[in-house]
Amino acid sequence: MITRRGLLTGGAVTAAGALAGCASDTSARTLDVGSLVREVATGSRTEPFYGLHQAGVATEPQAHAVFIGFDLRPGTRKEALVRLLKLLTDDAARLTQGRPALADTEPELAANPARLTCTFGFGPGLFDAAGADSPVQPLPRFATDRLDKRWSGGDLLVQVCADDNVTVAHAVRMIVKDARSFARVRWTQRGFRSATRRNLMGQIEGTGNATDLDRAVWIGQGPLAGGTTLVLRRIRMALETWDAVDRTAREFTIGRRLDNGAPLTGVAERDEPDFAAKNRLGFPVISEYAHIRRAHVADPALRLLRRPYNYDDGLSPEGEPDAGLLFASYQADIDRQFVPIQRMLAEGDLLNEWITTIGSAVFAIPPGCAEGGWIGESLLS
Ligand code: HEM
Repeated sequence: MITRRGLLTGGAVTAAGALAGCASDTSARTLDVGSLVREVATGSRTEPFYGLHQAGVATEPQAHAVFIGFDLRPGTRKEALVRLLKLLTDDAARLTQGRPALADTEPELAANPARLTCTFGFGPGLFDAAGADSPVQPLPRFATDRLDKRWSGGDLLVQVCADDNVTVAHAVRMIVKDARSFARVRWTQRGFRSATRRNLMGQIEGTGNATDLDRAVWIGQGPLAGGTTLVLRRIRMALETWDAVDRTAREFTIGRRLDNGAPLTGVAERDEPDFAAKNRLGFPVISEYAHIRRAHVADPALRLLRRPYNYDDGLSPEGEPDAGLLFASYQADIDRQFVPIQRMLAEGDLLNEWITTIGSAVFAIPPGCAEGGWIGESLLS
């Protein structure tokens, strides 16, 4: 039952894993797995909405995502923002739990939550509009940036993720409807993920992610306590020229093997890279300019939580794909965590030959809320 459709979703891997793990177990467990498989297949699984943190950050990534950047309409000040955020919180609280939004025109579409999460982020302009100091600032310019306004900036972010794209489209429609009198859509970026965690260059992603989220991701104190920050970069991949590169060069570029994601100094994905290892000629096995060496930070509190999505927006008349990565990274402190890594990469990363950053936006991700509360309460009330 989970075979084809199931394997398309990240959630199904959990189900498949559970199924395998329980093959020789008791029938009671088998029953549990049966209902899990049913939930995955029907899209009825839900992610909690209320809590200390917003969902959609530490949540096991869903198969589909839409990131929407809004510009506030002139004259949208604090009072209007509070009204807007109460409305959007209500929409998200209902839709993520499989219930229609208020005045939902297609209530049937809400009945399939498919692990829907709606995550809200505030850009510097939203804090300005509310008359408050912004905890996030636009990033410094990096030498490799080729930014297009079309994919950059934004006052308000809504990140909608689910394992079913119809669910995503419905939630987006409901949210945009309620936001429309307060804000205009500035950009929409759609992404998708494979349960294999492979990006469009064929590499496995996520191995070196932050694991100590309380230190690396969640902010400990102040009005953003329980929240985090998001850096969203739209990175185009030159897949036409990448396709011409041989396997050895591709692996050398990242510092990891393509087949199983192991570091070039190891055999399994989770083996620690040995950055000191040399080959017979005395050169480092993992190049000085390999992506994972340039991006590596030893301190677990300074790692990023990357939750990227692939994008593929069709072909040019010559057949060249407009494709790449919606690089989304969450970290407690952009200046201490993201900026130094991006600087190292901009100064010398073999991967730069095939990637170009064409969009960039930063948002504060407020903490979650309790029932009866609303997202942004600690920042705007
Ligand atoms: C299209 C662009 C990119 C591609 C295809 C890409 C690909 C990869 C791959 C395959 C890995 C190894 C597996 C893993 O740990 O996830 C990796 C690691 C990593 N990447 Fe990227 N990446 C891209 C952009 C970026 C950017 C913009 C940043 C941050 C500014 C970044 C930061 C990192 C970090 C921190 C690691 C983990 C390094 C470690 O092992 O400690 N990457 N990336």
